[in-house]
Amino acid sequence: MTAELVRVDNVSKVYYQAGLLRQRARSMVAVRNVSFSIAANTVLGLVGESGCGKSTLARAVAWLDPPTSGRVVVSGIDPGLRERSQMALFRRTVQIVFQDPYSSLNPRQCIGESVAEGLRNQGVPRDRRRREVARLLDMVGISPNRASERPHRFSGGQRQRIVIARALAVQPRFLILDEPVSSLDVSIQAQIVNLLVDLKRELSLTYLFISHDLNLIAYLSDEIAVMRDGTIIEQAPAEQLIAAPVHQYTRALFADAPVLPEPRSRSS
Ligand SMILES: Nc1ncnc2c1ncn2[C@@H]1O[C@H](COP(=O)(O)OP(=O)(O)OP(=O)(O)O)[C@@H](O)[C@H]1O
Ligand SMILES: [Mg+2]
Repeated sequence: MTAELVRVDNVSKVYYQAGLLRQRARSMVAVRNVSFSIAANTVLGLVGESGCGKSTLARAVAWLDPPTSGRVVVSGIDPGLRERSQMALFRRTVQIVFQDPYSSLNPRQCIGESVAEGLRNQGVPRDRRRREVARLLDMVGISPNRASERPHRFSGGQRQRIVIARALAVQPRFLILDEPVSSLDVSIQAQIVNLLVDLKRELSLTYLFISHDLNLIAYLSDEIAVMRDGTIIEQAPAEQLIAAPVHQYTRALFADAPVLPEPRSRSS
């Protein structure tokens, strides 16, 4: 049995909007009582239609926009305890990669500096930083010779590789990937997906992978969770959820999908 790396208990996120004029302030529940766990070195795929709360959940789990209520524990670290040392450790353990690699990188900073950011924050000396940046760029398929170039010199796919290198710099164990290939050309998407599969194996990573693309979710995921209106309505091992979805909504979702590939072999 594999050990659990990620536990999310009853997480909710409420957005409050100030009322105009004499209107009362309104609240909107974007995520409601979501619970799941992810075993170490596995992928939980999260699907659901636009606006159902996937990104809100991702940011809450990463503690970037902490939940209104509920608990998140990753590798035994509970950011809700608000202890500074725990928080710093959590920030290193959990990294998030967003959809848009264009807005994820500072256009005025050379990519080497962007990748080194987390290392600088940890006080890693300059020489070691430079070696580490070269290693990370090489690992994601970017020539280390290009470390001094700015993001505009790179394509969308290359930028997403650089963003992934930056996330990996702090040696995380858990990556939250929020539609990481959705903004890329279809021809590039598979390359980035394969890179993520390789990195997961080489570095023993655990992923929460969010996508609209059911083929991709079926290909990557060990488990799949289906989200609707802020809650997870169904979660099961990938083969089971695809072959015999319980919920009507899940059936409809996968019935509309293009031909699904054979789920990837679980033995690798
Ligand atoms: N900062 C915010 N303030 C108020 N409401 C928000 C905020 N962020 C998101 N929402 C609302 O919360 C709901 C969930 O949004 P979210 O971005 O999490 O959905 P999503 O599933 O990621 O959608 P998509 O597939 O389009 O990325 C939406 O109704 C959205 O309008
Ligand atoms: Mg989103």
